[in-house]
Amino acid sequence: MAGTGVFEDIIEGEVFKYYTDGEWKKSASGKSVAIINPTTRTTQYKVQACTQEEVNKVIESSKIAQKQWAKTPLWKRAELLHKAAAILKEHKAPIAECLVKEIAKPAKDSVTEVVRSGDLISYCAEEGVRILGEGKFLVSDSFPGNERTKYCLTSKIPLGVVLAIPPFNYPVNLAVSKIGPALIAGNSLVLKPPTQGAVACLHMVHCFHLAGFPTGLISCVTGKGSEIGDFLTMHPGVNCISFTGGDTGIAISKKAGMVPLQMELGGKDACIVLEDADLDLVAANIIKGGFSYSGQRCTAVKVILVMESVADALVEKVNARVAKLKVGPPEEDSDITPVVSESSANFIEGLAKDAKEKGATFCQEYKREGNLIWPLLLDNVRPDMRIAWEEPFGPILPVIRINSVEEGIHHCNASNFGLQGCIFTKDINKAILISDAMETGTVQINSAPARGPDHFPFQGLKDSGIGSQGITNSINMMTKIKSTVINLPSPSYTMG
Ligand code: G3H
Repeated sequence: MAGTGVFEDIIEGEVFKYYTDGEWKKSASGKSVAIINPTTRTTQYKVQACTQEEVNKVIESSKIAQKQWAKTPLWKRAELLHKAAAILKEHKAPIAECLVKEIAKPAKDSVTEVVRSGDLISYCAEEGVRILGEGKFLVSDSFPGNERTKYCLTSKIPLGVVLAIPPFNYPVNLAVSKIGPALIAGNSLVLKPPTQGAVACLHMVHCFHLAGFPTGLISCVTGKGSEIGDFLTMHPGVNCISFTGGDTGIAISKKAGMVPLQMELGGKDACIVLEDADLDLVAANIIKGGFSYSGQRCTAVKVILVMESVADALVEKVNARVAKLKVGPPEEDSDITPVVSESSANFIEGLAKDAKEKGATFCQEYKREGNLIWPLLLDNVRPDMRIAWEEPFGPILPVIRINSVEEGIHHCNASNFGLQGCIFTKDINKAILISDAMETGTVQINSAPARGPDHFPFQGLKDSGIGSQGITNSINMMTKIKSTVINLPSPSYTMG
């Protein structure tokens, strides 16, 4: 159970504490933030509402700890990360339970998220040891007019304090995808978890504490975005921000100072289906890509663009599979579970209503109980409907019938998002041409969009993000190149 056993230090009374200076603390604000269980719509947990003054202290400690950590050998950093990964996996059950209660993630998927996170941390340790152990050696005489009198040695150095802000849908996995690279690269890390998912994050952070990371190196501050959100992202002590979430990321990028930013924001991933596609494969991927975790994934399939000649057959196959989806609470491992909040459910409902008014075909009856929305396929969607462009982050999926591939590419590229997309066809040559024409960070051929495996590069174009993630790219992004140049009094050529 949450906050018990090895985790008993992280809670006092009914409020979970925040983590700084290697200790679990209560905020001086005396206030807490309630976390509402999406299924019961009642308060499940409470976390500290930290103050700006506490944030200042956290960042100060983080700065001091980083200086020492930068002097810690790479192999030692890696050893600690492996230890944290093992502890995290050992305690997957209570952490997964938090995910079930805080974000209504199906029980099995919650366990998968924790295990995947442990693997991600270990991979960071291994990759970091490899890529941070290497630098470059350049000689001056390759540039016109120079003799070989200068040797340039480059290495990757840490940035300092990294601020990590993960989203509610993968609070653990998308936190460690920032923590692992930051730490192996010699940075310190301040985590600001999402409100829904904060308690799972606090448990995860305790696994790093148990692994024995130095005091102050990792901190986790909870609280209201309105009180500490901007304060953190605009803090002069922060040297890098890695954020995953929605539009807030655009606001952060406008306000943040001159620090490297890594942003993964929304998506409206298109699924383009050609006449020769294997429709059973497409239907299976639409179900997985569009409805897993009730569509609350930035990489979910969010619009199907299918050639008119195969549209009826595809819709029939998808409908048959939708009928088999289990709808219910996350504890029962349902496929479709309540969406994260009432406001999110209301937003999704608004998109469905708009589509209804404008004449979309409802393949299933629209049904909602509390935050639970039944899966819904909307056929004959047209570009004047909001659902054609907006991201529902819920289990409703529009089908737009197209008469040419160009029409599909045009719709995909007219979106302000450009995260991922997918194409289904047996013609690999056509697939490559379409992939090249799609303005998205990744295109999947014959499979639904997905971020993983976690070492693959992951990036969005346009409003979908800044920079590239994936373990290697994140480690590189959280470092800077430093050069040392040895100047020789006279040219020196090996074997010369
Ligand atoms: O929600 C955004 C995530 O980065 C998507 O990750 O493709 O593993 O579900 P996923």
